[in-house]
Amino acid sequence: MADTPAWTALKAAARADRQTPIRALFEAEPDRLDGLTFEACGLRLDLSKQPWSREGVTAAVELAQACGVEAARARLFAGEIVNRTEGRPALHMALRAPAGADFRAAGQPVSEEVEDVRDAMQDFVAAVRSGMAGGATGKPFKAVLHIGIGGSDLGPRLVWEALRPLNPDIQLRFAANIDGAEFAAAVAGLDPEQTLVVVVSKTFTTQETLANARAAKAWLEARLGKGKADSHLAAVSANPAEAGRFGIAEDRVFTFRDWVGGRYSVWSAVGLSCAIGLGWPAFEGLLAGAGAMDEHFQTAPLDASMPVMLALAHVFNRNGLDRPLRAVVPYARRLALFPSYLQQLEMESNGKRVTQAGQPVDQATAAAVFGDAGTNGQHAFFQLLHQGADIIPVDFIALAQDHEGPAEHRNILLANAIAQAEALMIGQENLAEPHRHFPGNRPSSFLLLERLTPETLGALIALHEHKTFVEGVLWDIDSFDQWGVELGKVLAKTVLRELDGGDGPGHDPSTTALIARLAR
Ligand code: F6P
Repeated sequence: MADTPAWTALKAAARADRQTPIRALFEAEPDRLDGLTFEACGLRLDLSKQPWSREGVTAAVELAQACGVEAARARLFAGEIVNRTEGRPALHMALRAPAGADFRAAGQPVSEEVEDVRDAMQDFVAAVRSGMAGGATGKPFKAVLHIGIGGSDLGPRLVWEALRPLNPDIQLRFAANIDGAEFAAAVAGLDPEQTLVVVVSKTFTTQETLANARAAKAWLEARLGKGKADSHLAAVSANPAEAGRFGIAEDRVFTFRDWVGGRYSVWSAVGLSCAIGLGWPAFEGLLAGAGAMDEHFQTAPLDASMPVMLALAHVFNRNGLDRPLRAVVPYARRLALFPSYLQQLEMESNGKRVTQAGQPVDQATAAAVFGDAGTNGQHAFFQLLHQGADIIPVDFIALAQDHEGPAEHRNILLANAIAQAEALMIGQENLAEPHRHFPGNRPSSFLLLERLTPETLGALIALHEHKTFVEGVLWDIDSFDQWGVELGKVLAKTVLRELDGGDGPGHDPSTTALIARLAR
């Protein structure tokens, strides 16, 4: 696989490009900036500080062609079974298509059902926001407690933090972690009489989510009385029967299908809490922005496609230059959760070691992603980015307009973002004082959102979804399964039994000692 002519050419091009400082490429290629700047859906992506020459870019685009990215994209949008190990399509694009679309999942029409759920969500959002749907004591809801984990948490949490009003009429709280400290913090200060609990789980079998949901029900009933919490509960699931068994009324269960992957699900009813907190037009804007990126991805030629070119830049670093890490630094406090969001999107999607045919992958796959908001990260891990022994490519994200707070902060924030990218690339020679020497030649991309709106946020997320998909095609892996999370879940059940005092199988000495030390 990695020895195909296209992969061999990419790696040869990367080896050659390693000899030329990125900065020198600007002198050699006068049209470099224009050629490597991509605009779509309110986003401007500058890939000119990446370590590829014109020949490197050409080899990368030819790799995408040779790996069949266009055909794979067509199969994805056609709703074919692209998630082979689970036998499912991956059709999150159907969720953000405008009314009247005709998406099909494995041949079955789905758009009508998508619209029906959207309509039901819209009605419920209006009822909650207007106070028509209130709690057991007749009071309107002032808070939504969103319970879910992984894909049932990170998307809604990101969207809420990115777009939330400073003083919301309805505030959102999130409980994901099984650590009781998270639940305690999530309900602290909330009035159960005015709190709506939305339990979000695709499977409705997730240990953490069910435990948090039970805790929430008990918390509600402690105030409202046994059996009086029904009007405070809603669920979102692809397993409505299980949600019903949990005790959530049928008309309060909002569904989606198994062809929506958890980490691709914020566009479905999983976004219900956000729609309540932000209002329906904002949720529609989010969908529209993602839909616009879908259209761009489907129609732009490979070498003009933002998701494709971003994927190729990342793969050039990962496979061409053996760089196993990538930092993502949004210079926007509201996007501080984006690195965490990408950790699930990219590492759960592409952290794989076998091909679609079940053979071991013979080259590197997903890079590990980390990051934090700028400028905070500058005072933490940037030392390593500038002078560490490893070269770690950085994705900078910044907003051009609509900065909040004190006016002078805007330019300070943006100056830092721009300067860090420049410093990483140009470095600074100081042979007399090696500790002050900056080697430079450290690559970055710079993604500028004109403003942070529901539409650009939707486009930003969809950009990364499609980028992740393209990488999966290049590596010939299944980006839509996640078997790697299973073993730990199974073993945790055994260990739990033993911590609760039950018998268990033998373990290694370290595991046995931990269980013995903590059992009660
Ligand atoms: O543990 C991994 C995972 O399956 C994720 O893929 C998923 O988003 C998360 O757990 C939560 O799953 P669910 O929505 O079924 O509760």
